[in-house]
Amino acid sequence: MEVQQRTVDIDGQQMVMWEHGPIDGIPILLVHGFPLDHSMWLNQIDGLDSDGERLRMLCPDLLGCGQSDAINGDMSMEQIADQLAAMLDRIGVSRKVVFCGLSMGGYVGWQFLKRHRDRVSHLVACNTRAAGDTEDAARGRKKMAKSVSRIGSQPIADAMMPSLFYSPLTLTSEDQQKRTLINQVIGSTEAQTIAKLQLAMAARPDMTPFLNQIDVPTLVVSGRHDTFTPEEEMRAMAEAIPGSTFVCVENAAHLTPLENGPAFNQALIEFLLGN
Ligand code: MLT
Repeated sequence: MEVQQRTVDIDGQQMVMWEHGPIDGIPILLVHGFPLDHSMWLNQIDGLDSDGERLRMLCPDLLGCGQSDAINGDMSMEQIADQLAAMLDRIGVSRKVVFCGLSMGGYVGWQFLKRHRDRVSHLVACNTRAAGDTEDAARGRKKMAKSVSRIGSQPIADAMMPSLFYSPLTLTSEDQQKRTLINQVIGSTEAQTIAKLQLAMAARPDMTPFLNQIDVPTLVVSGRHDTFTPEEEMRAMAEAIPGSTFVCVENAAHLTPLENGPAFNQALIEFLLGN
């Protein structure tokens, strides 16, 4: 089945998205992390083919990221959630979706569920957290937001790599290609996107009190070697979400669905389809 690229108008700005799977499949909205794009889901767009017959994957590049238009004005997790709801309206998805977000995509997920509850059938929270920033973390983000226009995005890409990927002793050529891809995606992200998304994340609310109100089936996925959103923190988060399922994926750090596609896909399929 072909991957279809579409451009959707969101209040005068063009959001580019990729779609794969049958129109009557279970819609899964895959929302990338900071400052990435749809390509971090390549194992899900490409790798879910047999079960993919039952799934309709929807992979946007958030505004400012990948091939979508730049961010106009300020940004917040709440605004991104509303833009995604508008995107679903524009492409005619009225059915409830599986919201699957990684890291910043997960921060958006809490807001999407809170603001658009009737549009969500399931939640998949990957390598993310519910807590807001510590003062230190928020300060670090503001510092980066100030410096990025001067230093450019490439040093930020290079600095982020070690915490994004698990580093075994030897890397296959496929592992290497994934690192090159992500380094290029971050390195070619506009400085103003990095600044605006960092400020948006610094200002995001603490969603910990929301966790016990979640009433959709939820899968929480962590990576065994993730130091940014560690397994123990994610396990505790899962315990606070009524009835949720927790899976920790081996051979993965912060980009679990990309680093270990087969294990992530198996967990997703078991959760959604029960096989
Ligand atoms: C991400 O992967 O989206 C970021 O690490 C999130 C963050 O900086 O909090």
